[in-house]
Amino acid sequence: MREEMNIQWFPGHMTKARRMIEDMVKQVDGVCEIVDARIPASSRNPDLDSLTGGRPRLIIMNRTDQADPNVTAAWETFFRKQHAVTLKVDARSGRGTERFPAAVRELLSHKIEEYRAKGQTGRRLRVMVVGIPNVGKSTFINKIAGHRAAEVSDRPGVTKSKQWVAVDAGIDLLDTPGILWPKFESQTVGENLAFTGAVKDEILDRVTLGANLMLRLRDEYPDRICSRYKFTPSAEADGFELLEQAAAKRGFLLRGGEYDLERMAAVLLDEFRGGKLGRITLESPPEGS
Ligand code: G4P
Repeated sequence: MREEMNIQWFPGHMTKARRMIEDMVKQVDGVCEIVDARIPASSRNPDLDSLTGGRPRLIIMNRTDQADPNVTAAWETFFRKQHAVTLKVDARSGRGTERFPAAVRELLSHKIEEYRAKGQTGRRLRVMVVGIPNVGKSTFINKIAGHRAAEVSDRPGVTKSKQWVAVDAGIDLLDTPGILWPKFESQTVGENLAFTGAVKDEILDRVTLGANLMLRLRDEYPDRICSRYKFTPSAEADGFELLEQAAAKRGFLLRGGEYDLERMAAVLLDEFRGGKLGRITLESPPEGS
């Protein structure tokens, strides 16, 4: 059985972040929303629709190096069916980022036409990047724009002076990413954000989190438990029992002879986030889409 967790967020920060995005969006033609390819739905914030006032949106699936390639392809198809322009990248290595200018031009083809019709041929296109903390916004902007850009804090109150960096001959990118707070719409969404590290561990019960991650792995990627923790997870075991089995294999014992679940949970989360369990995606596109 899955344990309930209570994940909280801080409304004050959210309000400031929203205002910043609303302010920045007035200056751009389009918005690039970075999502985590391991959790493409949970890492979105539905409020972005209203915050961006109908600006065209490019969905950038980042961290594709860490995600299951088959599921990433399914998500790409899903987003395409919804008529969204999508780009798959790994911002850390830069893979896929070379297609960014073409994707922006595809996204803003109507705008380009509109400018041309007004005699503003060659008018530069302006775009901004938004996303939840830790999704890779700064890394992405740095890759696209070079080292001139994106030294920002996760704290929305800390605003650096806004600057534009030229991506190529026709596109300018706002070097300050919009930090969007995640939305905990359900226990599963909250967990997904916690598993991937979008939410800091300190505010969570790490053992419960680890136990619940074990269950998700058992259901979707049991082979990874076998290869990494050297046991076959049984269908009947609960998450804590799976953690215990892993702790036993690793020899994580407390003085009294009990298994050190705290340590095992920390190791599991660390190894999952560090890619030691292989490429894993925690959610698939909706059925029948
Ligand atoms: P943010 O601005 O959205 O808050 O995120 P940021 O770019 O700071 O990235 C957060 C962490 O995620 C960084 O790791 C960064 O290297 C990593 N990252 C970003 N994009 C990708 C990607 O496509 N693939 C992978 N595997 N990692 C990515 P860090 O641990 O904070 O720093 P470092 O250890 O990389 O130096």
